[in-house]
Amino acid sequence: MSQGALPGFRDFYPEQMATRNYLMSVWRDVARKYGFVEYDGPPLEPLDLYTRKSGEEIVGQLYNFKDKGDRDVALRPEMTPTLARMVAAKANALRKPIRWFSMPQLFRYERQQKGRLREHFQLNADIVGEASVVADAELLALAIDVMRAVGLTASDVRARVSDRHLLTSLLAEVGVKPTETAAVFAAIDKVGSEPRDVTLGKVEKAVSGVEARRGVARVLERTSDLNALAAEFRGSTDVMEAVTHMREYLNFLDALGVGDWVDFDLSIVRGLAYYTGTVFELFDAKGEFRAICGGGRYDDLLSSIGGVDLPALGFGMGDVVLTEILRSRNLLPTPEFGTDYWVAADDESMLPDVMTVAGRLRAKSRSVEYALKSQSLSRQLKTASTVGVKQVVLLRRDDYAKGKITLKTLADGSERSIALDAFLNTL
Ligand code: HAM
Repeated sequence: MSQGALPGFRDFYPEQMATRNYLMSVWRDVARKYGFVEYDGPPLEPLDLYTRKSGEEIVGQLYNFKDKGDRDVALRPEMTPTLARMVAAKANALRKPIRWFSMPQLFRYERQQKGRLREHFQLNADIVGEASVVADAELLALAIDVMRAVGLTASDVRARVSDRHLLTSLLAEVGVKPTETAAVFAAIDKVGSEPRDVTLGKVEKAVSGVEARRGVARVLERTSDLNALAAEFRGSTDVMEAVTHMREYLNFLDALGVGDWVDFDLSIVRGLAYYTGTVFELFDAKGEFRAICGGGRYDDLLSSIGGVDLPALGFGMGDVVLTEILRSRNLLPTPEFGTDYWVAADDESMLPDVMTVAGRLRAKSRSVEYALKSQSLSRQLKTASTVGVKQVVLLRRDDYAKGKITLKTLADGSERSIALDAFLNTL
């Protein structure tokens, strides 16, 4: 009996594999344009790498088990803890700032839904060792450049940016206690997907002071307007410092030529626990799909995982949502499985000669197929045309004995006779 893949896991038939390879080649090209170098880590990690740092949401979705040596292990649900561990272990030897990228397959036991599977591939790009907001701008520009490279525009995709410092200072300013901040963060994180009174209900539960609740509501009225926030809270030095930082970030994004993709949106908080500064997410402009990409600054993670104090920032961009969007916009390239040449012979006893010629073509880096058993010429030509080969290298017994072959173009049936060595020399 045939059995399908596990729920949330994909089979990559050649067509899907071609799409995956296409995306990965774009990811790699764009990352390299920004000077990022590729790395990878193990797909299986110690469980506590995640339970300590990733935050409840991801920990609840772990694929974890005991291995045969009684170790608690987990399939990686995200790349950032691995990166932090790897960089921390060699921090002194690495030239900083580090610009690294990776394209891991990740595993999360999620409720299956549109855009969410139990495995996905994710471009991760991270910069370690640079506190300047220029690095934040550089990183987001990379993510946006991937959108451009796959044919999407600023009217298809929006980058929503915020800063946890700004939000924290606003909440402190209106009187939210430090112990209440996390719950308010969680409520604000859902502003985009929940009705306002649900959010306010959560805030009421999280925040004890009545004045503070009103203050949070004042903040919530201005989540997409930085100038309005600045005007409302101009008396607070901490808020104004964070506002200036955000303005710098936006100016640098302009300088990098991606400003028209970017919207300020204080409701972007991000689900992961370790972010400390700027945070961002990329969404399709119509809001039909889940987030394409998310990331931000996590300046404390390296010291808590590896004991080295290095600022860091990065993002993860998944293949699932991006593929869905590209498919919906007809932007996925048609896969080409083209083989360069088919080698055929007009005499069934010449299979070894066909194989020799195939070998010589392959030595010239051409892709070559031929019939894997003796067949009539008409049969061979028929197969050649169904696999999409453009040219057939045809061995005719008498010509071949004199070192000659026939090049047959399938589209128009035209033929050209040429010495085999001369032909190979043209390649
Ligand atoms: P994340 O927001 O959990 O961040 O994931 C980033 C992206 O990966 C999402 O926007 C989404 O496109 C994709 N993704 C996540 N989960 C799934 C899933 N179950 N199925 C399909 N796609 C998914 C992180 O993972 C951070 N570690 C990113 C990061 C890197 N931050 C700093 N450096």
